[in-house]
Amino acid sequence: MTLDEFQSRYHGDMPSVSKTVAPPANLPGDGDGLVARVDLDQLIQNLNAMRQVAKGLGILAVVKADAYGHGAVQVAQALEAAHVAGFCVATLPEALELRRARISSPILVFGGVRPESLPLASTHGIDLTVVSADHLLELAKLVPQHPVGLHLKLDTGMGRSGLLISELGACLDPIRRLQPWLLGAMAHFAAADETDTRFTQVQRSRFLGALAQLRDAGISLRQVHHANSAGCLRGFTEGDTHVRCGISLYGLSELEEAQQAGLLPILELSAEVFRAVVIPAGTTVGYGCTYVAPHPVKLVTLNCGYADGYPRALANRAWAGYKGITYPVVGRVSMDSLTVVVPESVAIHPGESMVLLSRKPKDPHSVAATARLLGTIPYEVTCALHRRVARKHT
Ligand SMILES: Cc1ncc(COP(=O)(O)O)c(C=O)c1O
Repeated sequence: MTLDEFQSRYHGDMPSVSKTVAPPANLPGDGDGLVARVDLDQLIQNLNAMRQVAKGLGILAVVKADAYGHGAVQVAQALEAAHVAGFCVATLPEALELRRARISSPILVFGGVRPESLPLASTHGIDLTVVSADHLLELAKLVPQHPVGLHLKLDTGMGRSGLLISELGACLDPIRRLQPWLLGAMAHFAAADETDTRFTQVQRSRFLGALAQLRDAGISLRQVHHANSAGCLRGFTEGDTHVRCGISLYGLSELEEAQQAGLLPILELSAEVFRAVVIPAGTTVGYGCTYVAPHPVKLVTLNCGYADGYPRALANRAWAGYKGITYPVVGRVSMDSLTVVVPESVAIHPGESMVLLSRKPKDPHSVAATARLLGTIPYEVTCALHRRVARKHT
């Protein structure tokens, strides 16, 4: 831009913006800024570990919520190349995103897809979950014109979706009418990750009872799946054909069995330093002045805030890593930035990165440790990462 052009844009009558030159999709140096790096090789190692655990059952990879924040398209492409049996998502738009990315494996939508959306699901070969007795009746009317594969969900105790076991007897007729499109039956564990396995066993026996009832009524089921990652890691799969794994593939299951299987996290979040200054004792930092430097320290500002999915509740509690050492996050987390203090002697400069979520499970800033600080679970930490955070898959 010449000086004349600059002056006419900012001081002239009309700001002019070029309509012919599109801004670049990637910025120079993109990748050194705020970025979640996702290791697809480790993803496949986790998949192979789960294949061993599942002893040959088909793996349905759960990639809903943008693959728990890891980037659904790239994750699904890597998993499809490794021949998973199919994918599970929560919504029809999530399924269509995968089809647009040329994912051709079966895709099952967990949520209750409305009858109006059946033509779309049918055109794109998306399988649906039957989420209630009412949903079953609606589908029984429309599926013959708009064929879709169906998985009949049985509510064995999760209490949020599916046919109640008590409703099954009255639903056998419509289920029989849907037989040509019925791919299988499924249920979901409520407490498979808890040490006390009694409720999981109760759910399991309800499921096996319901399957027997369906088979006695002449209904055949090609696919049967009850287990999520925890159910699979704990072996509640006997007689099933598939398991539905999400968190284990991302290496974030906190079960001891997950460690034994060798599962490891695949995501690291790092942010860019945009200011590093020494502040004297007594300097306050951030909204509410919640941190006051006790002595001269180097204050480092990073380009990540709560709008990026780094929770404000981590203020003055969390850790950030630089060259293998962790330093405290101080002051309030702002919408677009946060601050860390390091000793004055640490030579850190704008343009460098600090790690906010580490892949090493034992680090104080691992996803699991961060979730514990927040009183939540690892799922919520990675799902929260905003689309403003670039995903880099390697
Ligand atoms: C119905 C259903 N099946 C399987 C999963 C996968 O669970 P996990 O990520 O614990 O393996 C989920 C995740 O929430 C789910 O909703």
